[in-house]
Amino acid sequence: MSSSPTFSSFVTIFMFLFFLNLPFSNSQLPIKATIRRAPRQLSVNYYAKSCPQVESLVGSVTSNMYKEAPASGPATIRLFFHDCFVEGCDGSILISSKAGSKELAEKDAEDNKDIAKEAFEGINKAKAIVESKCPGVVSCADILAIATRNFVHLVGGPYYEVKKGRWDGKLSKASRVHQNLPQSNSTVDQLLKLFSSKGLTSEDLVVLSGAHTIGFAHCKQFVNRIYNYKGTKKPDPYMDPRLFKALKMSCPQYGGNVDIVAPFDVTTPFSFDNAYYGNLEAKLGLLASDQALSLDPRTKPLVQELAKDKHKFFQAFADAMEKMGGIGVKRGRKHGEFRKDCTMHHV
Ligand code: HEM
Repeated sequence: MSSSPTFSSFVTIFMFLFFLNLPFSNSQLPIKATIRRAPRQLSVNYYAKSCPQVESLVGSVTSNMYKEAPASGPATIRLFFHDCFVEGCDGSILISSKAGSKELAEKDAEDNKDIAKEAFEGINKAKAIVESKCPGVVSCADILAIATRNFVHLVGGPYYEVKKGRWDGKLSKASRVHQNLPQSNSTVDQLLKLFSSKGLTSEDLVVLSGAHTIGFAHCKQFVNRIYNYKGTKKPDPYMDPRLFKALKMSCPQYGGNVDIVAPFDVTTPFSFDNAYYGNLEAKLGLLASDQALSLDPRTKPLVQELAKDKHKFFQAFADAMEKMGGIGVKRGRKHGEFRKDCTMHHV
């Protein structure tokens, strides 16, 4: 599993900004968004009696994590997404594989290996603090949902209320991961099909992909776009030549450093804003799956709208995160449990 981007990675980022000759800004202020729509069984006040201080306890951990290891922000947001898409938002991604067991847990699936370990550590820390004040009450799945919202807000994104009441899941299998997650070369058809299978619409797809306004991707996720787009041995024609040049410098076709990462949002990589959508319009999308959203007639109009309207993006993102946070929620002992330690099933 990777840790946060290395110093050389950050050098890479600044090389990007230099080569692309694009402005760098980190000055956007968060807008508060209030959400009304919610999965029926979850509620904002779920722990009002049993653990009223849960939000502030998790908040103290996420603020510290963000100061000490800023990469835990994007990594936690991705962790939540990968948790929700595989067996629902039930903390199943937090379970550690059992030594000697034939079947690995979700966490150790190939698609989850690049999630920075700080994200897992942050949730485990938050759980430990919450357990010390409210033992046996708050699920790991809810702690992950709260921590994700906190990080979205800390990086400059919208603040929204988190509905709670998820139980933790009893099942965590690496073999369930790949087919439930989108890939960097997924077509819009494949993305729509997958999102629809989770109860999410084409709008949700475009809006949630806006999370790629922050964070990084490893070279292997886009190297084919640079050197051999669809077997043509040429670069992807839907990539701005300046981006192509900058990526080529950091990511050789063969034998490069596997830890090198490039920013998703080449204009404002450290702030949560709507620049991601403007970048797509300017052929500055990093993954083929990102760029495709601005090319397909089903998703292009919303990309154009969100590129123009940051406030609309923030509202829609808060709404869509709440919707995603309701996927496959577990209640009751048949499928659910309350773990004391997020890395281990309750015994
Ligand atoms: C729509 C299809 C999506 C695809 C194909 C996709 C794919 C990817 C890939 C390949 C990476 C880079 C992994 C690496 O190299 O380390 C990544 C990172 C990331 N993804 Fe997505 N993703 C999608 C949707 C989402 C959604 C819905 C969210 C959250 C709401 C999300 C949040 C993130 C974040 C924050 C990162 C950066 C992680 C970091 O820097 O540590 N992604 N994604």
